[in-house]
Amino acid sequence: MTTSSAPGKVYLFGEHAVVYGEPAVPCAIERRARVTAEPRDDHRVRVESDDLTLDGFTVEWGADTDDHPNVDVPSNLVAAATGYVDEALAQARDALGDPEAGFDVTIESDIPLGGGLGSSAAVVVAAIDAAVRSRGESIEPEELADRAYQAEAAVQDGEASRADTYCSAMGGAVRVEGDDTRPIGAPELPLVIGYDGGAGDTGKLVAGVRALKEEYEFAADTVETIGDLTREGERLLADAEPGGEPGDELLEELGDLMDFNHGLLSALGVSARSLDRMVWTAREAEATGAKLTGAGGGGCIVALDPSEATERALAYSPGCEESFRAELATEGVRAE
Ligand code: MEV
Repeated sequence: MTTSSAPGKVYLFGEHAVVYGEPAVPCAIERRARVTAEPRDDHRVRVESDDLTLDGFTVEWGADTDDHPNVDVPSNLVAAATGYVDEALAQARDALGDPEAGFDVTIESDIPLGGGLGSSAAVVVAAIDAAVRSRGESIEPEELADRAYQAEAAVQDGEASRADTYCSAMGGAVRVEGDDTRPIGAPELPLVIGYDGGAGDTGKLVAGVRALKEEYEFAADTVETIGDLTREGERLLADAEPGGEPGDELLEELGDLMDFNHGLLSALGVSARSLDRMVWTAREAEATGAKLTGAGGGGCIVALDPSEATERALAYSPGCEESFRAELATEGVRAE
């Protein structure tokens, strides 16, 4: 059996705008998806997961068909999850040069599905890596990131940036602008996550922003402004000591930019009442700034606070199902 894990992520700045070529800065966090792969003698695929849905599921399908006969849990999340695994295994077969390769795959994840922490990217990255390694081959992180991006883009009808998959494959803080992807240094940021227990539909949310942007020039300007504030955030991070403790002034400045970023995402229609409520709870505690992370519509917010105040305030806030501190994951995909 071969197991790989890959981290989830939060966006410090730039989600949605990154789809249109603006820069984004996602940071990998120590919440991981673990995928175990075992080669089969036939061309079939069997996927088992306890964690991708509330109910768990087992699914088996042939590599040469695109119907999934054993998926009987009537959930969009299952359909999405099997889509991501399907595309990931197609990439693994392509990397192996063996279109008939079959696998038994088991998925465990402690990243909330669809909650803005990059669950699908982490599953896709770990699945490609485990499937390739299970057949005695290896894949370089850059190629893995590219293949994972192709898999995500296929499931999301081409509406994906490289940000989630690159960050999950490489770990740490990264910068993504179109095809230009690279790791950047970041201080040890005091990240606090609030999770409302829900999920957004990435495809729909991205399409909503595209429609606004096409209809209104000021929506297009809003996307550009997110790019500008992301560049400002990058400058702040570049001046800080990588891995060092950030000073109060830096946390205030980064927090201000995160607040601004949340306001602009809200203007683009991708926030939600639950996300706004958690953002305000964090701000009214001791967070220097807070914003939604990922596609929005529901799921998670990220705040900056070195004290315990925000985590505690979120834990007692109605509508927040879970709050936790997230460590930066310096390692991306890894063999377990
Ligand atoms: C989703 O995690 C982030 C978005 O920017 C979409 C993408 O970059 O593919 C909304």
